[in-house]
Amino acid sequence: MHRFVPALLLGVTFALPASAAEEITFTKHIAPILWKNCASCHRPGEVGPFNLLTYKDAAKRADFLAQITSERRMPPWKAEPGHGDFEDVRRLSDAEIKLLAQWAESGAKEGKASDLPPAPKFTEGWQLGQPDLILKMAEPFEVRADGRDVYRCFVLPTGLTEDRTVAAVEFRPGNRRVVHHALYFLDNTGAARKKDEADPGPGYSSFGGIGIVPTGSLGGWAPGATARRLPEGTGRMLRKGSDVVLQIHYHPSGKVEKDQSTLGIYFTRKPAQRLVMGVPLVNRRLAIPAGEKRHEVKATFTLPVDVQALGITPHMHLLGREMKVTATLPNGKQESLIWIKDWDFNWQDQYRYRKPVALPKGTKLEMVAYYDNSADNSKNPNHPPKLVRWGEQTTDEMALCGLQVITAKRADMLELYKELLKTQGRLGSLLSGFGTPSDK
Ligand code: HEC
Repeated sequence: MHRFVPALLLGVTFALPASAAEEITFTKHIAPILWKNCASCHRPGEVGPFNLLTYKDAAKRADFLAQITSERRMPPWKAEPGHGDFEDVRRLSDAEIKLLAQWAESGAKEGKASDLPPAPKFTEGWQLGQPDLILKMAEPFEVRADGRDVYRCFVLPTGLTEDRTVAAVEFRPGNRRVVHHALYFLDNTGAARKKDEADPGPGYSSFGGIGIVPTGSLGGWAPGATARRLPEGTGRMLRKGSDVVLQIHYHPSGKVEKDQSTLGIYFTRKPAQRLVMGVPLVNRRLAIPAGEKRHEVKATFTLPVDVQALGITPHMHLLGREMKVTATLPNGKQESLIWIKDWDFNWQDQYRYRKPVALPKGTKLEMVAYYDNSADNSKNPNHPPKLVRWGEQTTDEMALCGLQVITAKRADMLELYKELLKTQGRLGSLLSGFGTPSDK
């Protein structure tokens, strides 16, 4: 009998996950992880390349799921923990990653049906109720079957005859298989309309920005984002006669697809007194030498008034590798507003703070960005690498991070606006979204 004992022990050791006494199963451990963290994109009609809903979906790629999650490539979330406290964080815990690994190692067992939690529910239609203004792309846009991603701007006239303040914007992709991201800018100069007229087909083509300097922004959408109202009394300015310039990033799906997306705009009940302004940290003088692996670019801005930061939007193109934004408060305390260590142009989110971040007058904001312009950077659009400067094209770069802020008083907005105009010129004033000087 003796000699069977070691074998039996071995058998037991192998059957059980290393650190847990119970067997890891799909129904008990894995389904809740996938439904909470993956199904928003990995379900029919969504942007993920396959479904992650059923046992079959998950079991056949158990090793792949374990690998991708252990490398933290999925779910896509680029902000480092501990550097900004954000809404809708898509990040697995170490324990969840370990469960996925143990499940794959122990043969991806299904488990008892009775362990399965209630299936996730996904709300169809407008999440925030019927919008006050619905703007739909005038005609469907055809997305080619394969090749490079497509960046297209669509000009949607609002037809507003008076200024309004916006509490929320909800984006409904017309075709989730190809719509990867959307950004909504404002233009009340007619410049976007001219670009549209000059380009055949619906809208016009534009890679980095929207090809014109916008006169404001209403935010953006990425898969998994939740539409939310701004805090009561707060809004984004939407000037009369403005066009919304909807920039959509399309990812070809393997067959020709059509998209006709829609924006829903929700106005504030009363005109908002506190307007959301953009504080751009920007360095347009960047010149990234060919071959350089880690080229540093900085930008700073000192706040002339107290503000509360609601969100932050880093922006670089394909050479960008890392971006960090730090606030040094007047008392010397430093606060990290965001740190992206592994920049990916395809996953540039609009990060919203869970609670507004108070930044008093005199706070110095500093952005530091790093670029890899060597041939080792597989995303480098230039072969061989060449000197790269600021610009809108795929082959150009940007060093830009927008901070969305509100001020306590209207007079403070004007002061902030003047300071942006003084330090950053017309670009700073336009990116502030506060309007043009003649409006004041
Ligand atoms: C916000 C949307 C989103 C979420 C959430 C998401 N995925 Fe994905 N996933 C994608 C997209 C889009 C792709 C296609 C590749 C890409 O664009 O990065 C993808 C690709 C993948 C791939 C293939 C990667 C490759 O290299 O081919 C795996 C595996 C994967 N996801 C697993 C997961 C798992 C597991 C979760 C949850 C823990 C998850 N994803 C959550 C959108 C998402």
